[in-house]
Amino acid sequence: MTHFTYRFEICQYNVNKFNLNIDSRLKFISLRSFKNITSYLMEITEEKVMMALSTVIDPDFKKDLVSLNMIKDVRIDGQHVYFTIELTTPACPLKDQLGNDSRSAVKEMVSDTAKIHINFTSRVTTLRDFRSDVLPGVKNIIAVASGKGGVGKSTVAVNLALSLMRSGAKVGLVDADIHGPSIPTMLGLKGLRPGLEKVGDKHKIIPLDYKGLKVMSIGFLVEADQAIAWRGPMVTSALRQFITDVLWGELDYVIIDMPPGTGDVQLTLAQIVPVTGAVTVTTPQEVALADARKAMSFFMMNGVDIPVLGVVENMSYFTPTELPNNKYYIFGKGGGRKMAEEYNVPFLGEVPLVQSIREGGDIGVPAVMDNDPIVTSAFDSVSRNVARNVTIKNAQVREQLVENKS
Ligand SMILES: Nc1ncnc2c1ncn2[C@@H]1O[C@H](COP(=O)(O)OP(=O)(O)OP(=O)(O)O)[C@@H](O)[C@H]1O
Ligand SMILES: [Mg+2]
Repeated sequence: MTHFTYRFEICQYNVNKFNLNIDSRLKFISLRSFKNITSYLMEITEEKVMMALSTVIDPDFKKDLVSLNMIKDVRIDGQHVYFTIELTTPACPLKDQLGNDSRSAVKEMVSDTAKIHINFTSRVTTLRDFRSDVLPGVKNIIAVASGKGGVGKSTVAVNLALSLMRSGAKVGLVDADIHGPSIPTMLGLKGLRPGLEKVGDKHKIIPLDYKGLKVMSIGFLVEADQAIAWRGPMVTSALRQFITDVLWGELDYVIIDMPPGTGDVQLTLAQIVPVTGAVTVTTPQEVALADARKAMSFFMMNGVDIPVLGVVENMSYFTPTELPNNKYYIFGKGGGRKMAEEYNVPFLGEVPLVQSIREGGDIGVPAVMDNDPIVTSAFDSVSRNVARNVTIKNAQVREQLVENKS
């Protein structure tokens, strides 16, 4: 409104300056006012863009992008509108939707001739205190687990970590399978040893690097047959050491490949590591689902209390390389999704049984690095759902904390 008043005053000044008669004066004023109003209406301003964007709702948080502080750096240059949407994870599955909705809102509410340029950035959310002794600087810790062995935890953990990294996140991977570490083989890092760096009066371990992914496995520290014999306190101190004495740096996500089962090692890990959430991996067969239920109950158990981020169904269907559109549900269909419903947790996606996934694991080139579209799209979908549910969990816990305080 101030804008209109200002424009109207300029009109009046012009009328007085040219000393027009009363009729011409009125005509002049109404004509100029009309022109000014239309030009105001046509003009693209930062205020109008923000107003339009405040009608775009993020479906996960049920709030608009402006209230969520996701809109940054709005800039107008004639018909060109520039702004940044700051996502809560680079692996955000809603990125395209939020971009399209923002574009439509500005076109509909501000100007349909506007040329809109959206820049996406991200800032991964966290509930962690960076000064923590365990994994300081790590925003979110995700455990990948299952009740049963051999269902593909390590395969899912490795490809999930790499898919998150490819989306732009900073990621680390911990192979916590102390009695059967498989990550060194799966990443082609077998036989390598991590370096050491002196920090204060302590020596810290520098994780190995796989194309930007920081990796730590007990397999880098001892020969495989050595760790097999460890029991009880030996296991606890080894786990503690290779999780707490590692220089992880600042990371958005650390993925922990858990050993199979729900025994002492899992309990120790749950006690040492402040896990943000757990991903349960299962295959569709009833025997695997029964064990996956045990894993879910373990995380939900009193004293463990790790939020379950959801269920990944691995080996959901077989797809032969020569017939990529064919799906054969050889182990049964929909078991993982049903289990997720049963526990009221999200279903995070299906991963097909594909020969290249097994081969990739054996030769040390993980399937997502191979760029096979079927495999990458399956793992990218899983990783986006995992990242999304981490963000949702963080927001829920933060809201709860605020509520408890007030
Ligand atoms: N979707 C898949 N398609 C083809 N092969 C797969 C798939 N998922 C896993 N595999 C293969 O199945 C075997 C077991 O997988 P993986 O080692 O990931 O399971 P795990 O649950 O970690 O096992 P463990 O309980 O022993 O740690 C590996 O040879 C792996 O390459
Ligand atoms: Mg494994």
